[in-house]
Amino acid sequence: MKKLVVLFLGVFAVLTLSACGGAVDIGIVLPTNDEPRWVQDEERFEALLDETDYSVEILFSDGDTAVERSNVESLVAQGIKVLIITAQDGDAAAAAVEHAKAEGVTVIAYDRLITNTDAVDYYVTFDSIAVGEAQAQYLVDNATGTGNPLYLYAGAASDNNAFLFFEGAWNVLQPKIADGTFELINSSEAVNHRSKAALTRDELADIIDQVTTNWDFNEAINKAEAHLTEATADEKGDVFILAPNDGTARSIADTFLDDNDVSSIVITGQDAERASIQYIIDDIQSMTVFKDVRILVEDAMTVAVDVLEANEISTTGSYDNGSIDVPSIQTDVIVVDRNNVLEVIFDSGYYDEDDFDNIDDLN
Ligand code: BGC
Repeated sequence: MKKLVVLFLGVFAVLTLSACGGAVDIGIVLPTNDEPRWVQDEERFEALLDETDYSVEILFSDGDTAVERSNVESLVAQGIKVLIITAQDGDAAAAAVEHAKAEGVTVIAYDRLITNTDAVDYYVTFDSIAVGEAQAQYLVDNATGTGNPLYLYAGAASDNNAFLFFEGAWNVLQPKIADGTFELINSSEAVNHRSKAALTRDELADIIDQVTTNWDFNEAINKAEAHLTEATADEKGDVFILAPNDGTARSIADTFLDDNDVSSIVITGQDAERASIQYIIDDIQSMTVFKDVRILVEDAMTVAVDVLEANEISTTGSYDNGSIDVPSIQTDVIVVDRNNVLEVIFDSGYYDEDDFDNIDDLN
């Protein structure tokens, strides 16, 4: 009797496993659906799903490493062969991908590098140094004379991209801080390092830790308010703001424009989020760095399908993640402001003009 039950349970377990196993081919894990950036990615992945014969499941991690870990475990249990993952925290995600890798899954880091592990097979990314350089160049191109007040903000220190963006920005800003074009207002750590053209990771971390938004709108507002309270009227006027992405740019822009001593702002962003495209049309946010998610999604899916079909994978470079050089495929970025938004965002079909107001004001 006992034997029979065990046998029955055994058969049941195998049936359950095989019902799950093989059910999903490609698992996609995105960090949060609270930010329009990642909802964009989800939409662009979904747009491609009709074209593939493979089954794909997309899960969000609610900005939480533990949820991310259980998402990965559940996809692995469903038999995925390829995992496409944007880590919530680059270091913390190592354990999750090591679990997947141990089960024979090929791991593709999507947009954010997973660090200090050898369990990453490919990295599909934008040129993030170029993002920071483009943001900084925009500030430089719009500044005249000397002593222009400069406020710096950064992404989350748990995201390797925050370092790449800031490194790129520093490459361009540092000489213009050194020659007096800009005066640093809100970061004593940036002041400490202002004469160094190239910063170490620790020096970058000093500044990022001080001016981080953690990619969080409320933290961006709170920091901006604190900085404005501390700054004198002389340190306001026509200000220049390095904001790391669109969500934080809108929050910081609103906060600065509420201050009576601020006469004008030049403020950066990235992601070409719908709300920021509207802010650009309305001349509130100065620019965004357009990262065409359609290309990133297509690159990631191409690698995934090539893995499933055992085709050769072509990569264009590599990124050192602290443990190995991860083969990478990298996409360029485009600066968008009021001058080219029509052409780059609407004429290209990225967004539909009908979803926006005041487009006629651009002409
Ligand atoms: C991405 C940005 C995004 C930010 C916040 C970064 O890793 O590259 O596009 O705005 O995370 O989610």
